[in-house]
Amino acid sequence: MKTVDITIDKLGYFSGKEVKLRGWIYNRRSSGKIRFILLRDGTGIVQCVFVEGQVPEPAFDLADNIPQESAVAVTGTVREDRRAPGGYELTATDMQVISLAEPYPITPKEHGIEFLMQHRHLWLRSRRQVAILRIRNEIIKGLRDYLDEQGFLCCDTPILTPASVEGTTTLFPVDYYGEQVYLTQSGQLYNEAICAAVRKTYCFGPTFRAEKSKTRRHLTEFWMLEPEMAFYDLNMTMDLMEDLICAIVSRVLNRRREELKILERNIEKLEAVTKPFPRITYAEALEILKKAGMNVQFGDDFGGDEETVISQAFERPVMIHRFPAAIKAFYMKRAPEDNRLALGVDMLAPEGYGEIIGGGQREDDLNELQKRLQEYKLPSEPYQWYLDIRRYGSFPHSGFGLGLERTVAWICGLKHVRETIPFPRLLEKIYP
Ligand code: 4AD
Ligand code: MG
Repeated sequence: MKTVDITIDKLGYFSGKEVKLRGWIYNRRSSGKIRFILLRDGTGIVQCVFVEGQVPEPAFDLADNIPQESAVAVTGTVREDRRAPGGYELTATDMQVISLAEPYPITPKEHGIEFLMQHRHLWLRSRRQVAILRIRNEIIKGLRDYLDEQGFLCCDTPILTPASVEGTTTLFPVDYYGEQVYLTQSGQLYNEAICAAVRKTYCFGPTFRAEKSKTRRHLTEFWMLEPEMAFYDLNMTMDLMEDLICAIVSRVLNRRREELKILERNIEKLEAVTKPFPRITYAEALEILKKAGMNVQFGDDFGGDEETVISQAFERPVMIHRFPAAIKAFYMKRAPEDNRLALGVDMLAPEGYGEIIGGGQREDDLNELQKRLQEYKLPSEPYQWYLDIRRYGSFPHSGFGLGLERTVAWICGLKHVRETIPFPRLLEKIYP
């Protein structure tokens, strides 16, 4: 019989057959004349059982003392076993070394976060980190599939940009042939131009903010999904935000149960994420904060603490709209009923996670926008092309940005965004 070379995720198709798996030693233990090796191959983890006398002696000895993370090829017979994680086990017939590992720094004992971050390139191999990566990927696919099905066109926006979008205090400058440009904070301004061409567009890529504070929600490099829609007002935009979040949460619940289990995520909290989400004004949010005993006035921006209190007040994500214009970006349209308010909206995830989406309706009046650039002390030169969108057939439009890492942190139930991306970039942290 020919031994087939397969991966762990395919074991179910080979019950009773002899197969060969290639991977790394995750863990091992001994019991009398039996050696158990947990083999991981990137698609899953399976227990391989070595019985003395039933495998060649060198293979049995190897199973007794092979270092963790050594790369090996194991051959054996696939056995269904309901107690085994994944439902299968391998009764080993042989094992060959591909490469012996040096003593592995990450052992099954507890390690501090500093140590793990320093060894992030190895930490990624753990079952928990792989579960997070799989959920992150599922969320990305869910976001894109949903928008694609709704007729959006994914169009990519530049990383190197001459102008700021979200204020000038978090820009990363880059020397561009002697000219100072910046790493993008958001693709929004370009999306606004693109939506005049294709009606509904989105970009999805890395964005950069030179954040000066160390928090569990801030990265300096993070991924943002940004849809922009022609002829959408604020309410239509909130509808889309809601639909998009429902789509990805149910997709993860349907397809990534196993991973949520590994992360010990409370599934019920995610199952509660159904339409409609509460929509409250900034003024109503202030009331919630005051009732909770916080000292806030009209005009204050919400920091992490305020967001935590508001989002804990609801079972579902909550959308806060009509913020004081003074605390929001220059491009936001003013509310028709009150010029002090901006037609912006933030969505806060429940369980205290805070803001995962920021967006709103854009200023579509040329004169207003020009006035706004001056008020925000922004140079007009780099924005001339942006003003052209208002010069040539201006139209109501809206959009938003969904922070991927914060969304992943919430759905996975993680305390800090640093585990949501393979190699996080944080204040004063760029290694490995
Ligand atoms: O609220 P923000 O700053 O909005 C914008 O950038 C808009 N121009 C988007 C648009 O309308 N097209 O950022 C949007 C989201 C936030 O809600 C948050 O989830 C995430 O991006 N975000 C961060 N995530 C991690 N680390 C940071 N430093 C982040 N800053 C923003
Ligand atoms: Mg925001």
